[in-house]
Amino acid sequence: MKASVYIATSLDGFIAREDGALDWLPQPGEGSGDEDYGYDAFMATVDVIVMGRKSFEKVLTFGAWPYVKPVVVLSSGTVKIPEALKGSVELMSGSPAEIVASLSGRGVAHAYVDGGATIQNFIAAGLIQRLTITRIPVLIGRGIPLFGTVLRDVPLRHIQTRSYSSGMVQSEYAVAGTDDGL
Ligand SMILES: NC(=O)c1ccc[n+]([C@@H]2O[C@H](COP(=O)([O-])OP(=O)(O)OC[C@H]3O[C@@H](n4cnc5c(N)ncnc54)[C@H](OP(=O)(O)O)[C@@H]3O)[C@@H](O)[C@H]2O)c1
Repeated sequence: MKASVYIATSLDGFIAREDGALDWLPQPGEGSGDEDYGYDAFMATVDVIVMGRKSFEKVLTFGAWPYVKPVVVLSSGTVKIPEALKGSVELMSGSPAEIVASLSGRGVAHAYVDGGATIQNFIAAGLIQRLTITRIPVLIGRGIPLFGTVLRDVPLRHIQTRSYSSGMVQSEYAVAGTDDGL
């Protein structure tokens, strides 16, 4: 099973403000016309979205549920899943290796891993093959970082970088040493 990250960060590397706010992210359509930064094409390749409990709780505040693909929410506790989402959202816990083994055993070929702490754990376990990071041209100074401390260096291979008229710059990397990485 392949696992990918597709995420937006401030230029100084944050995925949300300290309180989880995303107000610094461009709103849909803002300054970008119909540009979706490759999101639909990426999502078309994804079988399941694996996200941390904190990201799930944030998405629930958006109002409309934005995903058409099944979602696995990771938590070591209990998470209230709204009735309307019970057919498409499932709770799991365990190490990243256990999560991958379980999904892989069901025939999942490509997972989209989301949420800062969750991404860091999967990278530390060597279970992310691809990273697509869209940098928003703004400094927010403090917040929830995409990356944190690492136990050892994580070499990356640059695949491509695209720049957009909105000022966003999107870079795609393969994680060296993983199946799809080199
Ligand atoms: N800029 C972007 O594109 C973007 C994308 C995604 C998210 N975000 C933002 O990022 C923020 C959330 O990120 P975050 O780093 O704070 O948290 P997160 O990764 O979304 O969630 C962390 C939580 O996930 C659970 N978890 C993770 N791995 C687990 C595992 N292997 N087994 C069991 N539980 C596991 C734990 O929940 P429990 O504490 O319940 O055990 C942990 O506290 C939100 O504000 C969200 O809006 C931004």
